[in-house]
Amino acid sequence: MPAISFQSVSKSFKSGRGSVKALDGVTFDIEEGEFFGLLGPNGAGKTTLISILAGLARASDGNVSVLGHDVQAQYAQARRHLGVVPQELVFDPFFTVREALRIQSGYFGVRGNDAWITELLESLGLADKANANMRQLSGGMKRRVLVAQALVHKPPVIVLDEPTAGVDVELRQTLWQFIARLNRQGHTVLLTTHYLEEAEALCNRIAMLKQGRVVALERTSDLLKAASSNVLRFKIDRELPPQFADKARVTGRIVQLPAHDAHEIETYLATIRQAGLRVEDVEIRKPDLEDVFLDVMSAKHQQRVAA
Ligand SMILES: Nc1ncnc2c1ncn2[C@@H]1O[C@H](COP(=O)(O)OP(=O)(O)OP(=O)(O)O)[C@@H](O)[C@H]1O
Ligand SMILES: [Mg+2]
Repeated sequence: MPAISFQSVSKSFKSGRGSVKALDGVTFDIEEGEFFGLLGPNGAGKTTLISILAGLARASDGNVSVLGHDVQAQYAQARRHLGVVPQELVFDPFFTVREALRIQSGYFGVRGNDAWITELLESLGLADKANANMRQLSGGMKRRVLVAQALVHKPPVIVLDEPTAGVDVELRQTLWQFIARLNRQGHTVLLTTHYLEEAEALCNRIAMLKQGRVVALERTSDLLKAASSNVLRFKIDRELPPQFADKARVTGRIVQLPAHDAHEIETYLATIRQAGLRVEDVEIRKPDLEDVFLDVMSAKHQQRVAA
């Protein structure tokens, strides 16, 4: 039985004049024990899909279940198997961190779990904030509390919607170690993130959403293998000539170009030198998930969904 099953899920939102189709026939399963990445640009539909999974929004069409429990018809059972870290920072300013976690446990009928709450606080670097008021916490700390809240009832299926947005480097690493440990212990993890190097490092399988449709669904290693070219990376001192505009990934002075062979690399570098630019720090690397993501999201790409 899959941990999570999405079957032909569609969702339209009424807007002023017409309606927005946020999800359009999304179908895939996440198996028990997977560390699954749901990726896509802003507005692709990731949070909408998670809201439907959590029973916070209703699908216009289709079915969603958690460990066999339909999220509509068997809401309570489905919800109990699920721990959701929401993208939005929502919290009650009147409680301390520990109180907030006890109250959250109460929603799931869990009592006497103080030892687990203490472990959560320690694992998430919140031990010294246990008695602090929620409103006294910084943004990154509030997000840690949201992670702890999602885990108070030890749910078998953990859903994280941008859990590391605004979280500092050190805690991102601690958080991932902790979530990876839970995953090794058998918890299923569904993660959305815009940090693609995190998704590449953590997720065994990835779905990419674009405008409410699944445009890629594969093992992470297969997605990376299917990227046919290496990447030529260098620094330049001025703007890149326009003929490279649609091929290059440019970040400030750094340019990255897909390159299939030595001849192509030489041609690129020669063209750039002829245009009078100085090229520095040349390196060739294997494609990463960000390259694959940009390729999949560009209109040129053929849909890539494993059989
Ligand atoms: N409550 C709502 N009412 C109307 N439109 C909505 C509502 N919630 C989401 N949308 C629209 O649905 C689409 C998908 O939004 P969603 O929040 O699911 O995207 P996302 O993939 O989570 O993006 P991000 O990476 O920015 O978090 C967007 O076009 C958004 O404007
Ligand atoms: Mg979102």
